[in-house]
Amino acid sequence: MDLKDLYIDYFVSLNHKQIPSAPVVPENDASVLFNTAGMQPLIPYLLGEEHPFGKRLCDYQKCIRTNDLDEVGDKTHHTFFEMLGNWSLGDYFKEESITYSFNFLTQVLNIPIDRLAVTVFSGNEGIKKDEISVNVWKKLGIKEERIAYLDDNFWIAGSTGPCGSDTEIFYFRSDDEIPAVFDPEDDRWVEIWNNVFMEFYKNEDGTYKPLPKKNVDTGMGYERVVAVLEGVDDNYKSSVWKDVIKKIEDISSKPYVGNEKSMRIIADHIRTSIFIIADPSGIKPSNTDQGYILRRLIRRAIRHAKKLDIDYYGNWYKEIASMIIDKYSKYYSELEKNKEMIFEVLKGEIEKFNRTLEKGLKEFEKAKTKLNTNIIDATTAFHLYDTYGFPIELTKELALESNLDVDIKGFEQKFKEHQEKSRAGAKEKFKGGLASTGEMETKYHTATHLLNAALKVVVNKDVHQRGSNITDKRLRFDFSCDHKLTDLEKQKTEELVNKWISEGLEVTKKQMSKQEAINSGAECMFIEKYPDIVTVYSIGDVSHELCGGPHVKNTSCLGKFKITKEEASSSGVRRIKAILE
Ligand code: SER
Repeated sequence: MDLKDLYIDYFVSLNHKQIPSAPVVPENDASVLFNTAGMQPLIPYLLGEEHPFGKRLCDYQKCIRTNDLDEVGDKTHHTFFEMLGNWSLGDYFKEESITYSFNFLTQVLNIPIDRLAVTVFSGNEGIKKDEISVNVWKKLGIKEERIAYLDDNFWIAGSTGPCGSDTEIFYFRSDDEIPAVFDPEDDRWVEIWNNVFMEFYKNEDGTYKPLPKKNVDTGMGYERVVAVLEGVDDNYKSSVWKDVIKKIEDISSKPYVGNEKSMRIIADHIRTSIFIIADPSGIKPSNTDQGYILRRLIRRAIRHAKKLDIDYYGNWYKEIASMIIDKYSKYYSELEKNKEMIFEVLKGEIEKFNRTLEKGLKEFEKAKTKLNTNIIDATTAFHLYDTYGFPIELTKELALESNLDVDIKGFEQKFKEHQEKSRAGAKEKFKGGLASTGEMETKYHTATHLLNAALKVVVNKDVHQRGSNITDKRLRFDFSCDHKLTDLEKQKTEELVNKWISEGLEVTKKQMSKQEAINSGAECMFIEKYPDIVTVYSIGDVSHELCGGPHVKNTSCLGKFKITKEEASSSGVRRIKAILE
């Protein structure tokens, strides 16, 4: 049985409710690009909000960490990983939490107690040593010499927020004789589980205040634990990756040994790209934020495919992606559902980069021969970025492979100048434009809901949103539909939206549990991916949709709705652009 199933079954048997994995792009938190820990989507509840599923929760959560992106290629780093977590929201605390973890490891996973060691919080000026945890560990049979006291056993997601001391569980991974005394610096001991006792909130000024309730937040890295249990020291040799690596060996006709770095990068980056593309946020490769990460991942994978002499114009990515989608669909149904879209996005980005990769690499080689120093200058780096689509990180990686540096500061300067120029251009364009961006965007939000509802009436009740993008000038709406809209369908859709606008329908907002929202038949993209308390916006009784807003109060202010374009977006998905006049 898979570790995920064992874990969930165990905590469910201890009266925990399983909650679904939240999307990788946080829905109500613009401060981070991706969810980096299982607790992130639960922050409101750790701060005291009631969770509709109760006080004992468990899940496996999709996480993406990109600060180590360039490290991927070694045995242990991944950009995407799954975190197994269990939580107590003001219910049990240290004793039960530690006992549950210990029993899972020793009784469900049958890990001998002798292979385990723990760290606990040693205390600091403000907060006392965690004697309670120490006593629980001892009672369970962990010997004093297997307990290390550390002052950095204190966990917080960023610089402010819910936090508390933690106790970490380590596993002795090596075949060597297990040392009697635990040394947390000895890397044969690997951390496998972190139990955080969240009882404080760290304020901006660095002070702490107690949380309304004492919570437990635990996290266990799936990939790492599987590798540990299977006795491999290279995560990519575990059952999580073995078949994917084998596939890459087949495609490249090269063995893993000697080509580890490129194979790991391809496997990891394609997997992460798949999860980003399938996310309800609808991220596409671009030059900003999450889209840029996606672009970097795909482009880096292509470069390494080329290094392995894979026919990078061929179907390599599809074979790998299909295998990964099949592996994960049981746990993440969005992958199978969006399979075709995933292939399309990968294909689009790969084709785009393939057009310039070869030339860019030649350009890089040329620049190398002209060097008097061992630094690739900023002009070359910017040219590679601007003309050949080489993310700067890729240029850095290329440089490193030839023992060269890149003038990153100079690159950033050029990048900034370039941005300022394009911003100045954009400002010119908008001069004398519309009243206020916020107001128009708000109107387009509401118009999008009306359009979604009208398409269901006019075209087919099974039309569903597949993506949406709003500026202050227009809305863009992607929806599932198997045919090009006829002129009559377009006309009727416009008429219906305009009728609803002229009726002056009230827009109302209501918070409810996800289950209530499902029961009420509210429209949304991926119900299972929403937080447990959702906001449903209703427009008269013509539209009910899960949404974060903002919306106008009454449709009468929207003006005249007009479809300006209807076209294919990807297979089975049409795209409408529309304006309000
Ligand atoms: N939040 C803690 C971690 O990420 C435990 O889940 O390690």
